[in-house]
Amino acid sequence: MDNTRPENTKLENQVIIFLGAPGAGKGTQAARLATEHNLLQISTGDILRDHIARGTELGQRVEPIMKQGHLVPDDVLVSMIGEKLQTLEPVRVIFDGFPRTLAQAEALDQMLLQNGTPLNSVLLLEVPTEELIARIVNRGISSERSDDNETTARARQQVYHDLTQPVVEHYRKQGLVQALEGRGSTNEVYARILEAVQTPA
Ligand code: AP5
Ligand code: MG
Repeated sequence: MDNTRPENTKLENQVIIFLGAPGAGKGTQAARLATEHNLLQISTGDILRDHIARGTELGQRVEPIMKQGHLVPDDVLVSMIGEKLQTLEPVRVIFDGFPRTLAQAEALDQMLLQNGTPLNSVLLLEVPTEELIARIVNRGISSERSDDNETTARARQQVYHDLTQPVVEHYRKQGLVQALEGRGSTNEVYARILEAVQTPA
């Protein structure tokens, strides 16, 4: 242990963002990295699905939006993440599914700035569209996700292209994006992720 370090827990802060189109493997990989590296996975999709399962007011509001593959309004997501970040000390998180619009990315930049928390890595998982559709349709055979069907999967890809691709560009301009091959076995993809996290852009 490095005893010369001041006792400032902010030094332990770590923020990683997983970007990638629906089906790219964000959730799969973020869960493993979080477990193995003592980070908290914040999956906005999982949080919203939990609201739907519990029948909360928010769940009832977002259910039809998610079923169509559209995005939930920015203000909902930004306040959700803002409240969550306030509860964390140190902030050691992997964002999976957030930010998804330029407005969300700018809001997150502000929140991290105010908190004195740097953004360490933005990992972009790249997988061709047809493989993404196949993965989602395949999962749809057994999953209970209302958006795991071909029509909605295609709508989600379009939404990603229109609204989330600008987020990739936003972080690219900051020199933070590491684009990774998202095909191959989950172990192979994870190995690429580990290497990227150890050598930030
Ligand atoms: P969200 O839950 O975030 O879903 P998504 O990103 O659209 O798609 P997935 O979760 O399916 O993909 P993933 O990249 O996590 O891949 P996964 O590991 O699951 O969002 C759902 C909805 O919530 C949105 O449409 C929106 O309505 C709303 N929402 C959420 N966040 C929001 C935000 N910030 N703003 C506004 N609205 C928001 O893998 C997919 C499949 O592939 C799995 O079956 C997996 O087993 C398989 N797989 C994984 N890796 C591999 C591999 N290497 N090879 C083969 N198969 C693999
Ligand atoms: Mg996911």
